[in-house]
Amino acid sequence: MITLAFETSCDETSVAVLNNDKVLSNVILSQLFHSEFGGVVPEIASREHLNKIVELTENAVSESGITINDVDLIAATSEPGLIGALLIGLNYAKSIAVSLRKPFVPVNHIQAHIYSSFITDNKPEFPFISLIVSGGHTLLIHVKDFFEHEILGTTIDDAAGEAFDKVAKMLELGYPGGPIIDKLAENGNAQFHKFPLANIKNHPYDFSFSGIKTSVLYFLREIDYFNNLSGNLREDICASFQYAVIESLYRKTLKASKEFNIKKISISGGVSANSYLKEKFKCLEKSGFSIYIPSIQYTTDNAGMIGITAYYKYKFATDKSYFQNKSFSAKAVPRIDFTTF
Ligand code: KG4
Ligand code: ZN
Repeated sequence: MITLAFETSCDETSVAVLNNDKVLSNVILSQLFHSEFGGVVPEIASREHLNKIVELTENAVSESGITINDVDLIAATSEPGLIGALLIGLNYAKSIAVSLRKPFVPVNHIQAHIYSSFITDNKPEFPFISLIVSGGHTLLIHVKDFFEHEILGTTIDDAAGEAFDKVAKMLELGYPGGPIIDKLAENGNAQFHKFPLANIKNHPYDFSFSGIKTSVLYFLREIDYFNNLSGNLREDICASFQYAVIESLYRKTLKASKEFNIKKISISGGVSANSYLKEKFKCLEKSGFSIYIPSIQYTTDNAGMIGITAYYKYKFATDKSYFQNKSFSAKAVPRIDFTTF
């Protein structure tokens, strides 16, 4: 079964072609020019998706080696995201579905981050704990089975990636802040300053990053940062901030793993590219854990993850026997909206 998938929920225009759950092509165009505004400008993002989507679709189809008439299923991100940006991918995808007379499957972007870990031969077995950490989302999810997800916690304020971006802005480092802070932190001392790790009363799995961010702001004022910037100060602040954010993600994920007695953890979203996060979680493998982190092209926003989720959703609704020989069982039927002609 050939799936053509689209992702346009934020500032990446991406188109992928899959053969069953194997990705044949995954073309991604990141709208880097938002950096000059310090964040994504929704109107500009939508216009850029509109400008690029046809060309990227042609590229993805030709790279995959199929022709458009071979496509059996069309998918696009339907929620959550910037509404103008979503509408470009959704309407373009639906118009292809109409013209090819093939079914259309809408995909939840967060669910797609969970199933991005399946774009490999080493797929996670159920149940597992999924940590999703991006610029817009921070969620800890108990994935019991296919499409049986229990959200254990989420952020009550900023997303983890957003905190990286805001602190980078305070330090005048550029956007997106995560990769820049990650690089600078390599040469910094993580114990230089203790930024607070947030714990929310009665909500052990919820996250809060705005306290860490504010405490960086107060610290910069206290030391008159820009007038005293010398030596390793910038690197030390980056390392100490990064330590606080990643420790918070790590400790809550481990708590969930202990409570549910699950030693399989998948991590996805842009922040999963962080070197300290990877190092911390990979260390757990020595104690019998299995850690699944998709490769970079499938962990940041991409249409490959939309395609694989759509494929599983479609199979789930139309051919349960597909799941019977797998290590997971198929209990719940996901809500699925087909546009068939
Ligand atoms: O998943 P993603 O590409 O897009 C969203 O859905 O938001 O994630 C982008 C976020 C940005 O906030 C960026 O600063 C952060 O991921 N990020 C990182 C790293 N690489 C990207 N954060 C920390 N360390 C990194 N190496
Ligand atoms: Zn995302």
